[in-house]
Amino acid sequence: MKIPLNEPKIGDLAQRYVEKVLQGGRVQGNGEFTERAQQWLSEYIGGLPLLTHSCTGALEMAMLLADLEVGDEVILPSFTFVSTATAVVSCGAVPVFVDIRADTCNLNEHLIEAAITEKTKAIIVVHYAGICCNMDTIRNVATRYKLLVVEDAAQALMSSYKGVPAGALSDLACFSFHETKNVISGEGGALIVNDPALEDRARIIRDKGTNRHRFLEGQVDKYTWVDKGSSFLLSDLLAALLYAQLQEAEDLTRARLRHWQNYHSQLEDMERAGRLRRMSVPAECLHNGHIYYVRLENAERRRHVMEQLNKQGIGAAFHYIPLHSSPAGKRFGRVSGDLQVTNEVSETLLRLPLFPEMGHKADIVLDNLRECC
Ligand SMILES: Cc1ncc(COP(=O)(O)O)c(C=O)c1O
Repeated sequence: MKIPLNEPKIGDLAQRYVEKVLQGGRVQGNGEFTERAQQWLSEYIGGLPLLTHSCTGALEMAMLLADLEVGDEVILPSFTFVSTATAVVSCGAVPVFVDIRADTCNLNEHLIEAAITEKTKAIIVVHYAGICCNMDTIRNVATRYKLLVVEDAAQALMSSYKGVPAGALSDLACFSFHETKNVISGEGGALIVNDPALEDRARIIRDKGTNRHRFLEGQVDKYTWVDKGSSFLLSDLLAALLYAQLQEAEDLTRARLRHWQNYHSQLEDMERAGRLRRMSVPAECLHNGHIYYVRLENAERRRHVMEQLNKQGIGAAFHYIPLHSSPAGKRFGRVSGDLQVTNEVSETLLRLPLFPEMGHKADIVLDNLRECC
């Protein structure tokens, strides 16, 4: 039996909505379902949500809104998906990699200040595995140094920190609805603009640098090129799929959390026996069950366990090759500190399959893990 790392669940509602768009024949962006999905996000998170073709696109928009100049610096973790850094580099700015915390794999809030120079313009935090960063400390540093805070909340829809939803914890937040996420549209993303002063410009940047939204609202009689921008809109066809998923988001999250909790309680004895370390969640964070991972003793042990599970058809996987050690990371980035935790986590972390309709497959994963670990 094959057990993939992730298996999307797309229900009948999505089929009905997509069919409706196809019948209406209007499949470009900014249609009825874009509006409805944005409304859902606005009610759940707040701010001004703008759907985009990807979280990568939303991060690029955030960096354009940060008005970065060549040589400016942006602080971020090295332990993240590549888009967190490419968005910075595409503006000619320098990603400055800071180490993570060993307990959450999130940016270590106590190391940020040492990485700040007079060129620093922004901090991008990543809520890894849907567990929020320590935003109180991070926002405090950002306020003192007048830095923009951006959440890469790609993995964190429906997570929260001290009761505030992920996406509402910064100036600009970026979500992903890629097929690998909890709520999906195949490809897709959203930028949440929490600073009202950035709203108008965000709309312009999303629409190729034009003031088309003002034209559509009847404020100008023709639209024209007014600023930087690109084509960041999501097709309404995908927005229809997304809206159905958003309506089912609570059920999808609840199902994932059930399997997450099952892994967590069943692995307690293995942790006590020193065979692995389980992930941990700070008391102030509610998470969305996006990822379940364990940490193994060293790289060799991780390689062995992953190989054995993969041989049994179980899609266990690692995460991430640190960006500071990649060819482009070395070329475009700068490192602050020794990034020792990043290197260790990258060598020892193992993700287990997790998706809403796992059923008894989670027990098969656990049986195999007990055997080879
Ligand atoms: C932390 C993080 N940032 C950004 C992205 C990019 O998302 P997208 O594929 O929607 O561009 C991902 C996707 O895996 C991610 O996990």
